[in-house]
Amino acid sequence: MPSPTLLPVEVHLRPDELERALSADVRAGLTATPKVLPPKWFYDQRGSELFDEITRLDEYYPTRCEREIIERVATEVAAFGAETLVELGAGSAEKTRRLLDAMVADGRLARYVPFDVSEEFLRSSADALAEQYPGLAVGAVVGDFERHLPALAALPGEGPRLVAFLGGTIGNLDPAQRATFFATLAGALRPGDGLLLGTDLVKDADRLVRAYDDDAGVTAAFNKNVLAVINRHLDADFDLDRFAHVARWDAEAEWIEMRLRSLGPQQVHVGDLELVVELGDGEEIRTEISAKFRRERVVAELGTAGLDLREWWTDAAGDFALSLSVRR
Ligand code: AVJ
Repeated sequence: MPSPTLLPVEVHLRPDELERALSADVRAGLTATPKVLPPKWFYDQRGSELFDEITRLDEYYPTRCEREIIERVATEVAAFGAETLVELGAGSAEKTRRLLDAMVADGRLARYVPFDVSEEFLRSSADALAEQYPGLAVGAVVGDFERHLPALAALPGEGPRLVAFLGGTIGNLDPAQRATFFATLAGALRPGDGLLLGTDLVKDADRLVRAYDDDAGVTAAFNKNVLAVINRHLDADFDLDRFAHVARWDAEAEWIEMRLRSLGPQQVHVGDLELVVELGDGEEIRTEISAKFRRERVVAELGTAGLDLREWWTDAAGDFALSLSVRR
């Protein structure tokens, strides 16, 4: 039984559209030079479980740092006085609960709207949250935050909205994609609305590389999982054992790159696309960038989009930042 406080789930992405988007990305990416696959395809059931495991690794500090910040500043975030909290890529229920607890206690929050590509995941978490926070209306938007942000403009309610984009996922976008993302988001917000953004910070290259190349090999399995996703959805025949996981720090671009390196020359067939992919020995497919930030860059990118920085919080070690900016 749906809870009475459940808002409709708005679906902008049907499973067949997801399949089409995957096909287009795989065809474009594997026929390009150099080869590339977008990181959003890591996250099927298995990929989401592997990412969860990553967040618990000693080497992977960002999740712990962000949690430390949220625990410390949740009441300050609540003081923003949002009537609606939108969460992009509604990831960790635990971080969300810290925020919701503080915002519900503040008394002005009326609705929570997680926004994610996975309809199944959204429906189950929306149901659970609606039950745990009676009095809070819980809705959901099924969509891709690179395509469906304009839907946020149509959310109900006249009061201030706060959009949370946590975990450092903004780092998966390159600078041009980020500019589009921030501008589109700002365009869907009203003056006085806020953005709560998690950004991982530039630090020692060794620590960065270890965070993306852990000793237990969990990140390697996560990286290779994108090939399993393509095998299953597009009838491809990638042999995961014939690829090596690579994590590299690009000091100039200030981002981590994950790649999959072909062990020997090989041919891969993507049945549904009638595509034959040739890989040379040592040839690499780039599967993710994870940009690391400095405060000045975050302030500048937000400012260009019409978002003014109001707060900048870091963990005690200064490894990760949470910022609150306000639409001009
Ligand atoms: C979920 C995008 C924030 O970039 O650190 C973790 C994904 N990739 N280990 C990140 C990821 C490899 C993660 N984000």
